[in-house]
Amino acid sequence: MTKGRIFSGMQPSGRFHLGNYMGALENWVKLQNEYECFFSIVDLHSLTSSFEDTSKLQDNINEMAVDWLSAGIDPEKNVIFVQSHVKEHSELFLLLSMMTPLSWLERVPTYKDKLQQLGAQGKDINTYGFLGYPVLMAADIMLYKATCVPVGEDQAAHLELTREMVRRFNYLYKKEIFPEPQAVYSKAKILPGIDGRKMSKSYGNAIAFGAGPEEMKERVRLMVTDPKRIKKTDKGNPDVCTVFTFHKVFNTENSEEIACKCRAAEIGCVQCKNCLAEKMNALLADIHTRREELKNKPNYVREVLEFGAERARKVAAANMEEIRAAMNVL
Ligand code: AMP
Ligand code: TRP
Repeated sequence: MTKGRIFSGMQPSGRFHLGNYMGALENWVKLQNEYECFFSIVDLHSLTSSFEDTSKLQDNINEMAVDWLSAGIDPEKNVIFVQSHVKEHSELFLLLSMMTPLSWLERVPTYKDKLQQLGAQGKDINTYGFLGYPVLMAADIMLYKATCVPVGEDQAAHLELTREMVRRFNYLYKKEIFPEPQAVYSKAKILPGIDGRKMSKSYGNAIAFGAGPEEMKERVRLMVTDPKRIKKTDKGNPDVCTVFTFHKVFNTENSEEIACKCRAAEIGCVQCKNCLAEKMNALLADIHTRREELKNKPNYVREVLEFGAERARKVAAANMEEIRAAMNVL
């Protein structure tokens, strides 16, 4: 017996980083032993804001599959698939869009935020599809009658909208077809990037999930430290040092000792960074080896995604039949 059914998705945007891993994927790896999980590479979602240049889409999908598998998402235990391979996502999105009040979508806080943010970068996403993004997400979750959705807190408003859609559908068609999905927030805190701000693909401050030992060393070398500590003999303040934040996450057992040495000027920043890079490389070594192996097995990765889509389609088709019947779309 599992605790319920999970659906979650990630956009194949091409630059999966350690923040994504710590904030989401690491949590999925744990959840796969407790729930029945559907994990989807949501390529249609990525089209809502990146519809102009799609030339990298397939590479990004494959790369995301490699990232997931190397992190330990098990294709036997979970249903791993690409959203567009299961056409029912598009069909349910269409049916749900008929009954979604515009005002619900316009008041989603992430909508105006992202519109503005991308607008400032000269990108216009005043499109029908982008406004409907949360409806597509609701369709993903409802199609599998998922009961739990692990997401970051940035997705809370989208999940609330899904719950409203569930209530509306069940009420309109007088049938308790869908359960109201619960959010499962991951405990992981926001991981900073090498400049101390939130690690993000748009800030240029990320450490790639696929970074090898040399790249890791170089990214750690560029991390910002206590700005007041100029010479090695100056006493440092670990509380304002990004390197120390990483020690707490990746080198927890030694972090207290490092903080003491930094405060007493007994360890220099270069040594402290080398120690961190070594620790991170050791922790990620297995993942990195698996990742390199999988990169050379494109057929295997394709088979995993085909197998996943087949299993997802079975559930989706049966549920879609029930949904159509409730709506008299026969
Ligand atoms: P994004 O790539 O920003 O769409 O995020 C994908 C997932 O990774 C979401 O669940 C986020 O909450 C999570 N995430 C993104 N950046 C970070 C970060 N710096 N620290 C922790 N989690 C993150
Ligand atoms: N919107 C989510 C994100 O950007 C991705 C997503 C799409 C999703 N469909 C989903 C997450 C369904 C959970 C459930 O991170």
